[in-house]
Amino acid sequence: MLSGNRILLGVTGGIAAYKSAYLLREFQKAGADVRVTMTPSATRFIGSETFSALSRHTVAVEVFTDNRQDESWTKHIHWAEWADLFVIAPCTANTLSKIVHGASDNMLTSTVLAARCPVLICPTMDGEMYESPGVTHNLEKAEKMGYHLLEPESGYLASGLEAVGRLPRLSSILKKSETIISESREKGPLSGKSVLVTAGPTREFIDPVRYISNPSSGKMGIAMAEAAARLGGNVTLLKGPGTEKETERMNTVPFISAYDLFEKVKRHQKADIVIMAAAVSDFAPSETFNSKVKKEDASGSIPLKQTPDILHWLGDHKTDHQVLIGFAMETENLEKNAKKKLAAKNLDWICANSLVAENSGFQNDENEILLIGSSETKTFVGQKKVISLQILREIFT
Ligand code: C5P
Repeated sequence: MLSGNRILLGVTGGIAAYKSAYLLREFQKAGADVRVTMTPSATRFIGSETFSALSRHTVAVEVFTDNRQDESWTKHIHWAEWADLFVIAPCTANTLSKIVHGASDNMLTSTVLAARCPVLICPTMDGEMYESPGVTHNLEKAEKMGYHLLEPESGYLASGLEAVGRLPRLSSILKKSETIISESREKGPLSGKSVLVTAGPTREFIDPVRYISNPSSGKMGIAMAEAAARLGGNVTLLKGPGTEKETERMNTVPFISAYDLFEKVKRHQKADIVIMAAAVSDFAPSETFNSKVKKEDASGSIPLKQTPDILHWLGDHKTDHQVLIGFAMETENLEKNAKKKLAAKNLDWICANSLVAENSGFQNDENEILLIGSSETKTFVGQKKVISLQILREIFT
């Protein structure tokens, strides 16, 4: 049920912190990718190494680190944007109090403030503490603020007492997490919309062993598809050869050549939203050979023909209320050329990426995109997975 979802697990300094390692495992078994942020006091109960080994990601504890490679102090923003759900289990009375007062004195509380995804708080403490006026007040406040709460269970506590305060069973936390994620998708701005996304390169075969292509990894298109699914869209991803493994939240259809992609795009042409991120080859060999061309038979040149401009065709056949988003990759006059394309291809939006900007373009995990609409331009810089979500939110909310 959690397949393809990203869960940020927040661990605070209570005795139940050791159970968070099992919870992480349960989330993974259900198909989620999990990252962990801990408060400094949680590390007194269980080592951050346990969580980094299990999650296969670094664990965020300190806001400030000496490691400049490690996204340093902006990690709380990136991780908050990355997550589909932030689960704080166990959540101590202290962290609960900080959350409802908007404090940001450590990585976990700072990430709560930056989070736009749902946050599930699992308050876990001794019975007397749980029933104290302060905690009762903070729980009511948390609920009013829109945080999801899962009540602790009654039973044997570390203090030796029997009372309400135990971390709920892992199966209850899992079930609640699934419900929150599916409800938030239903409320997403793309809920009920069909979305067609194309990603990756095309291959235009000369003979069975040679082709014309480009270095596209498909990362940007796949990130757009994932973001659209996360915002509630019903996504079909047309995915080019050699691209990354797809996520499981969408219908994925592979393509090889520009002509192949064109046929598949036509089949889904009526989608409410079309995002054309594929790096389609503009040329294909005029003639293809069924068997390998021998070195001695090669003429020394390959005659080319133009491939169909799929996006142009989509612009010509745009249906009512359809939103058409194209991509442009330029080495010079980025904005001017992209604006020309926006008009020429009858697009609603164009995402222009410069091949000369640092950490941008083909293969990179990061990108710099200039989003251009009919009356608005805005720049997005950062991880492709993060800026895709920001771009779609900009367009659709
Ligand atoms: O004109 P240019 O190739 O730069 O336009 C880029 C945009 O057009 C991208 O969205 C790309 O997916 C799309 N495209 C297309 N068919 C082509 C070439 C590009 O749909 N033959």
